[in-house]
Amino acid sequence: MSKVTLSTLRKLKQAGEKFASLTAYDAGFARLMDQAGVDVILVGDSLGMVVQGRETTLPVTMGEMVYHTRCVCRGSERALVMSDMPFMSYATPAQALDNAARLMKEGGAHCVKLEVHGGMVETVRLLASYGIPVCAHLGLLPQTVHKLGGYKVQGRDEAAAAEMIAAAQAMVDAGADILVLECVPSALGRAITAAVEAPVIGIGAGADTDGQVLVLHDMLGVTPGKRPKFSHDFLQATGTVQAAFAAYAAAVKERRFPTAAHTVD
Ligand code: KIV
Repeated sequence: MSKVTLSTLRKLKQAGEKFASLTAYDAGFARLMDQAGVDVILVGDSLGMVVQGRETTLPVTMGEMVYHTRCVCRGSERALVMSDMPFMSYATPAQALDNAARLMKEGGAHCVKLEVHGGMVETVRLLASYGIPVCAHLGLLPQTVHKLGGYKVQGRDEAAAAEMIAAAQAMVDAGADILVLECVPSALGRAITAAVEAPVIGIGAGADTDGQVLVLHDMLGVTPGKRPKFSHDFLQATGTVQAAFAAYAAAVKERRFPTAAHTVD
């Protein structure tokens, strides 16, 4: 069982092979995912909604992210653990550096994820210059939900799509090691994945990104109310959490998930 590293993900991309990612917030679920072959575990700030029951991710604190990252790291051995930087924890490059260092030193994260816009190239460059692995999250940015007026598909028109492709390239040029692409048309997911050297993980970005990620509570059918169109309940057909994780990982790697029904086109 060899550990998943950034280099593993880059090799998978070069070989045209898919990899699987899920969110986790504690050691128990992280252990089961790790054993089921999930390659990247994301300690998402979605924990504000699915664990804490809040309406958005905005109230999540650095202390909470460090705590949950530490829990996940205790449970996983093989997967790469990526941890979200919460809202306003990276408002300046210096603040981003301090807080990214906390996620790695106190939490044990292998990589930090930031929701980015064009103006954040310097922040990504600074983190990369200190050897901090960075994931740049593009597309639907849940931390800007109030500005967006809801959780809406991004990059639908030509100008917005071109802007996102340029932003993705700029992030990779600045040193981003991974991209996460959320809730964009599948053609844009395909274009960004083809354009950049870094591995791209999609959620609602079509079948052509290098990896896929889902929120744990959505893929176990725990999330109350309407589930996002791009998600799928893997527990229903499998019956156990461990089998659901294995079924998800296999479906992603064998290109059976996502299907056209999971696109936001
Ligand atoms: O916080 C989270 O769970 C995320 C995923 C939706 C990618 O950022």
